[in-house]
Amino acid sequence: MIPETLKKSLQARVASAITAREAAVDVMKELQAHYGWLTDEAVQEAAALLGLSPLQVEELATFYEMIYRRPVGKKVIHVCDSISCWCADCDKIIQYLKDKLGVGLGGTTADGMFTLLPCCCMGMCGDSPAMSVGGVPYGRLTPELVDEILEAERHKV
Ligand code: FES
Repeated sequence: MIPETLKKSLQARVASAITAREAAVDVMKELQAHYGWLTDEAVQEAAALLGLSPLQVEELATFYEMIYRRPVGKKVIHVCDSISCWCADCDKIIQYLKDKLGVGLGGTTADGMFTLLPCCCMGMCGDSPAMSVGGVPYGRLTPELVDEILEAERHKV
């Protein structure tokens, strides 16, 4: 159950949208921020707020790769595997991340800090290979830079 203040702000967001679907991503992201991931309860709440069916919310949720329908770590790493990053040998970076974190794609580290997910082009092709950690973009990745980024992100609030 979400707090009344969050409910009111989401209702205001929906009211300001031309169509409910326009506000759907914002609503899902806010609920995800509240719960840590988009729980089944959150899908029901989003549906009620948006005037959509839970199935319609589910369809939207599974379309957007930044919406998580399973529990994730404190910070999600999205590592790009699209064409420019692939040409810049992102496979090496992805393997490095897997080895370093001890998880496969889709996995969460034992300490619950990081979840590693592949993603489509992040619009950073000029700085490939690229990833984001907790929403912060990083490019021109090397194993050494990955080490620095993970260390810094681990201690950032
Ligand atoms: S292909 Fe990776 S950022 Fe564009």
